[in-house]
Amino acid sequence: VWASTKKSEQLVLLSGPSIATTTTSSLSEREREREKAMTGCVNSISPPPMTFHSHLSSPSPVSRSSFSFSGDSVHSLYRFRRVTRSPSVISPKFQIVAAEKAKPLKIMISGAPASGKGTQCELITQKYGLVHISAGDLLRAEIASGSENGRRAKEFMEKGQLVPDEIVVMMVKDRLSQKDSEQNGWLLDGYPRSSSQATALKGFGFQPDLFIVLEVPEDILIERVVGRRLDPVTGKIYHLKYSPPETEEIASRLTQRFDDTEEKAKLRLKTHNQNVTDVLSMYDDITIKIEGNRSKGEVFSQIDTALSELLQQRNTAPSSLLS
Ligand code: AP5
Repeated sequence: VWASTKKSEQLVLLSGPSIATTTTSSLSEREREREKAMTGCVNSISPPPMTFHSHLSSPSPVSRSSFSFSGDSVHSLYRFRRVTRSPSVISPKFQIVAAEKAKPLKIMISGAPASGKGTQCELITQKYGLVHISAGDLLRAEIASGSENGRRAKEFMEKGQLVPDEIVVMMVKDRLSQKDSEQNGWLLDGYPRSSSQATALKGFGFQPDLFIVLEVPEDILIERVVGRRLDPVTGKIYHLKYSPPETEEIASRLTQRFDDTEEKAKLRLKTHNQNVTDVLSMYDDITIKIEGNRSKGEVFSQIDTALSELLQQRNTAPSSLLS
């Protein structure tokens, strides 16, 4: 593989985990002539239109073995064969891996009210840098803006019912379409909640890689709802018993959501149970069910494993160029 650097052009060979390099200046004149004769390529030493980025020392699973090529595949193949003829750097087998930059992750997370979606989204975004898009948060922002849509949405949320599609669907679609979501990947929380929303999502061309479903027994959910508190300054989610605020100052400013009463939580749960099967059936092939009745660290560990494996599969699947 060719790579242009400031000082010299470099030949880079990948063979299993090891990398060997040699500069073009180390090729003898005779070797160059032989190259020309064998390939018919007059300008075999000129800098090729190809870039190479290696992040082998990066700890991030996203960047591991992330390479990008700007040369066309024919040139790439030619150069690959050319390099393998050099006896000084050849090893018996070569593999050039993953020529494309990893695509950003697209994840959905679902679960009953207070199953821990928001809590896990905080942890996932911290580690994976995805854009967190919560349908509930978008609706609460709409209510706070004082808009007509917000006013209407609140009527449904008060009753624990789904807000009509004509309000939610475009709201979510617009957020998913923004540049940061496209570039960094997204983590869609609490959407879709019905087959019509899932169908609309698909129709807009948004196809998730993984659907995470948090499973928590119902009696635990109610306790989680009534004990939940939010920090309006940091947006962090607390629970008076399971995740208490770190300082008195934070404790004094915590707020409670208008729908976090036992009565409203039961209505939300009923709505969830009416719709969940329909939604799950549309994502059978990419669904993982996570046991959510554990500490938040343990729940995250299960999710983290699934996401890491997903990234690993992507990074180890070579796009082409095996010889
Ligand atoms: P939304 O805001 O999405 O509410 P929800 O689905 O009821 O879920 P919650 O936000 O209550 O819970 P969560 O799972 O995020 O749990 P959290 O991490 O906070 O939706 C609100 C309303 O908006 C809906 O009812 C509907 O009206 C409308 N809406 C939303 N999306 C819609 C859509 N797509 N279409 C139509 N309408 C829509 O955790 C809860 C508590 O538990 C916290 O106190 C936390 O600290 C604690 N906790 C979390 N994990 C653990 C753990 N592992 N162990 C112990 N405690 C934990």
